[in-house]
Formats: sequence, structure tokens, C-alpha cells
Amino acid sequence: RTSLPNFTIEPTTTPTDAATREALLAKPVFGRVFTDHMVVVRYSDEKGWHDAKVTARRPLSIDPAASVLHYAQEIFEGMKAYRLETGGIATFRPEANARRFRDSAARMAMADLPEELFVEAVDQLVRIDADWVPHGEGQSLYLRPFMISDDVFLGVKPASEYLFIVIACPVGAYFSGGAVSVWVSEAYTRAAPGGTGAAKCGGNYAASLVAQSEAKAHGCDQVLFLDSRERRFIEEMGGMNVMLLRDDDTLVTPPLTGTILPGITRASILTLAAESGMKVEEVPLDINEVFEGAASGRYREAFACGTAAVVTPIGRFRRTEGEAVFGDGKTSGQVTLKLKTMLTDLQAGRSNDAQGWVH
Ligand code: COI
Repeated sequence: RTSLPNFTIEPTTTPTDAATREALLAKPVFGRVFTDHMVVVRYSDEKGWHDAKVTARRPLSIDPAASVLHYAQEIFEGMKAYRLETGGIATFRPEANARRFRDSAARMAMADLPEELFVEAVDQLVRIDADWVPHGEGQSLYLRPFMISDDVFLGVKPASEYLFIVIACPVGAYFSGGAVSVWVSEAYTRAAPGGTGAAKCGGNYAASLVAQSEAKAHGCDQVLFLDSRERRFIEEMGGMNVMLLRDDDTLVTPPLTGTILPGITRASILTLAAESGMKVEEVPLDINEVFEGAASGRYREAFACGTAAVVTPIGRFRRTEGEAVFGDGKTSGQVTLKLKTMLTDLQAGRSNDAQGWVH
């Protein structure tokens, strides 16, 4: 099936009025407020991808035996649309999200969604809900494409029917400000070799929640997972990748060995840093060396990166035997700030898009 379905556009008959929308956009809280529309595309083994619709956002009607509710065949993406300073609206590297979505689908034995259809679906939603892209500094329209299995069947097997849906919400910062504190989980791991760590599936996030609660109980904002074999090497946080700055001006981050989510923000920062003349290394990072290195000044800065988190400074790692503090533990390091500015300037159309990443 080479042809892509055409989208039927059914605008909502009850759009949010402009005053209400502007009030919602003034202070968007991550993930609480949604736009007026959604995109839905159906898949069946018989018909392939079909019935593509831009329609009013509304609850789905789903059979209680739908396989996603039992065996969690679900994958998602996170991406953003930004207002450009030059006018217009752009998404950032949507082809990269489309590619990763296909990889996630393959891992979860779900239907393959053509990259053009993914990008077109996102464009359709951004176009119809363009007024929902906020204007404020650091604000954007967060896009959440996802796929669920829809077979009414309790046998454990890959489904033959799926729904691909895109919803959107205006957002500001994911974290409320300043450097975050991060709990190093010793009790839980996120992904094992051969597991689903590199796929963006809901199950990975479900499995992270108890560790995230443990982090909160220790007064931390986020959890950091270690590798599942030796519980020694840094992997990633609950919902974002992690990077450190070493005193030889090298940016270091754990390598993609199959247990880590291949972040698009992660990849973008590695490229931008290398282009700006920094050394970058994707190497295993021993948590004990990081704690020692924070104390000795070998590791100067640390930050979290992701679509939702953008670039968020990490003030400290905390574990049972103490803390590793970066800088003053409260504010962003210089290099972290520089990398954030490079990325956000590009996303806002304030700098030359040498990579052609802005869509
Ligand atoms: C994103 O950054 O887009 C994610 O999917 C992670 C989640 C913590 C919101």
C-alpha cells in the first residue's frame, strides 16, 4: 500500500472562544490544557492506514476488551511546534520523531506508520490549532502523537487493528524553575538488555513511576536510573536524557546501547556542541566516579535534556550515601546555558538553521 490516506477535516462546532483561549495560553501548565482538535487515523491488516481525520477533540469510545487496555501495545512521541521570530510556526525535526515512532512500533510488534503520514498528521493538527501555539518566551505547543492497539481480543498476540492519534497542548517549562535535584535509584532499574528501553512505549514510563515516587520521597524532582546488570553506570532519568560537563570541556553522555531512549534533543545537543567546537563523548559513566568527580571538580555541570525538559540544569544527584553537587546546586552552569540558548535559538528561528531541522 503505497498511497497515503487523504485527511477529512471536520472542524469543531464548539471552538474555544478567543478570550478563554488567551487566558489558558497566558500560563500553560504542562499537559493539562488541550487544543480543540485531534487527528485520528485507523489501521487494519486488511485496509492498511485509512480513515484519516482531523476532528473535534473528544473522548474515545473503546471496548473494555481492547488489547491496549490489557497488554499495553502503546507507543508515543513528544515534539513541539514553536512560533518563529520571523513569523510562522515550525516543528523541530519531525522526521526524526517519525523515524523513532517506526522503531518503537517495530519493537512493540505494532503497525508500521509511514514517516510522511506521521509528519502530515502533525502538520494538519498544527495548522487547524495554530491559534493555540503560545507566544511567550519558553512556551510552545506540545504535540503528542501516539498509537494504541484496538483489537477486541484477550489472546496475547500482536493486534491487527490500531489507532494513530495526535493531540496537542500549549506548554511552558516542564520543571518550575532553577536546577533540579535527582535521586539515584538503587532499588529500581528502567530497562534491561533486550528489553524495551530504546522504545518510546507507555510501559517504560509506567515502570518508572514507583522510582519517581521514591525520588519525591527523598525530596528530589526526578529519578536517575543505573544499568540493570551492574547498577553502576548512569542510564537516563524518568523522562529525559542526562549529560555532564567534564573539566576538559568535554560534554559526556551515556551511549545508546539499546537500554536508553534515543532522545532527539540529546542528538541535537551533541551535534550543536560538536559544531561549536566542544568535544563530545558517548561513554559509560560510572556513578561512583561521577560522585567523586563532582566533589573534585572533574564534573562541573550536569543537565537533563528532552523535548519536555528542553535543557534543565541538575543541581545535585542524591543517593543513600550522600550528594554530588554541581556548581552552586541552584543555578545553571555556563555551558548548560550556552547549549540551551543554541538549541532554543534554533527552535525559535533566531539562528541560522544549518541542519535544516526547522520544519
Ligand atoms: C518528552 O520529553 O516529550 C517526553 O515524552 C517525556 C515526558 C516526561 C513528557
